[in-house]
Amino acid sequence: MRARLAGEIEAFTKRFGIAPSLSVVLVGEDPASVTYVGAKEKASREAGMISEAVRLPATSSKDRVITAVESLNRDPARQGILVQLPLPRHIDPDVVVQAIDPTKDVDGLHPYNLGLLLAGRPRFAPATPSGIQQLLIEENVETSGAHVVICGRSNIVGRPLAAILLGRGKGANSTVTVCHTGTRDLKVITRSADILVAAAGQPDLIRGDMIRPGAVVIDVGVNRINDPGRKSGFRLVGDVKFDEAVDVASLITPVPGGVGPMTIAMLLRNTLVAALASRAGK
Ligand SMILES: NC(=O)c1ccc[n+]([C@@H]2O[C@H](COP(=O)([O-])OP(=O)(O)OC[C@H]3O[C@@H](n4cnc5c(N)ncnc54)[C@H](OP(=O)(O)O)[C@@H]3O)[C@@H](O)[C@H]2O)c1
Repeated sequence: MRARLAGEIEAFTKRFGIAPSLSVVLVGEDPASVTYVGAKEKASREAGMISEAVRLPATSSKDRVITAVESLNRDPARQGILVQLPLPRHIDPDVVVQAIDPTKDVDGLHPYNLGLLLAGRPRFAPATPSGIQQLLIEENVETSGAHVVICGRSNIVGRPLAAILLGRGKGANSTVTVCHTGTRDLKVITRSADILVAAAGQPDLIRGDMIRPGAVVIDVGVNRINDPGRKSGFRLVGDVKFDEAVDVASLITPVPGGVGPMTIAMLLRNTLVAALASRAGK
């Protein structure tokens, strides 16, 4: 997908004399966020985009962060903007996300874009759920009529994924159940899934006996667990106990390496869409 996008980005750059641009605002130095921002910068550069990270100290005020976002909003050379979450605890992420110009909100988290998605007219669908849909399409997984169970109801993953899969058309038309911490009998529900998506941020939440034999399992979780055997002192695991699930599922995404890279690819696609829209009619 990134190779395909690189071709389209090259065509854009030839036509308009400037490459599409992605700006990422990073507040503080949360190690996972620093890694994600680095990966986004690298992937966008490799695809031929202009990429910049606006790095602000963890002590920045909400107003300072909003000022940075507004300055990117005003700059016509910046077509894609995202604010890396989570923000430091003293800053309300909703307020900051709402400050992003919805036409540049390539993470698709502005309420206007979430509203369009819910109305079945997505402009920028959030990158992680879009990537999950794309994975299902590319792997020829039948979603129409399938029972999809999503563990997690966040605005970044669970809710928008439910909206996407409830839509009509290719890679959608599913029957969707969304689970959360108030869900009773999680195992009974997960075992009824044709497609099970774990997006709870809980290591090993999904055990092998919670999966219907032959189901497709998408593991969104990225959890750091201590591993003194590694130089870094930690390793990444998903929300699914992979060793057990791999014997039961027909298809399963690994962590790391599954949903994460797809998320980045979809972010690049959203940025290209924003850049094309900004040029429309020019
Ligand atoms: N690979 C990627 O590109 C990517 C992108 C985004 C996120 N992630 C990862 O995906 C995971 C989820 O991220 P998020 O931002 O959506 O997290 P979040 O905002 O913390 O939401 C977690 C959701 O899971 C639910 N949940 C937690 N424990 C549960 C349990 N025992 N049973 C059922 N539901 C449970 C929570 O329920 P309540 O609402 O009731 O609290 C909540 O809705 C994290 O590990 C994150 O790192 C990966």
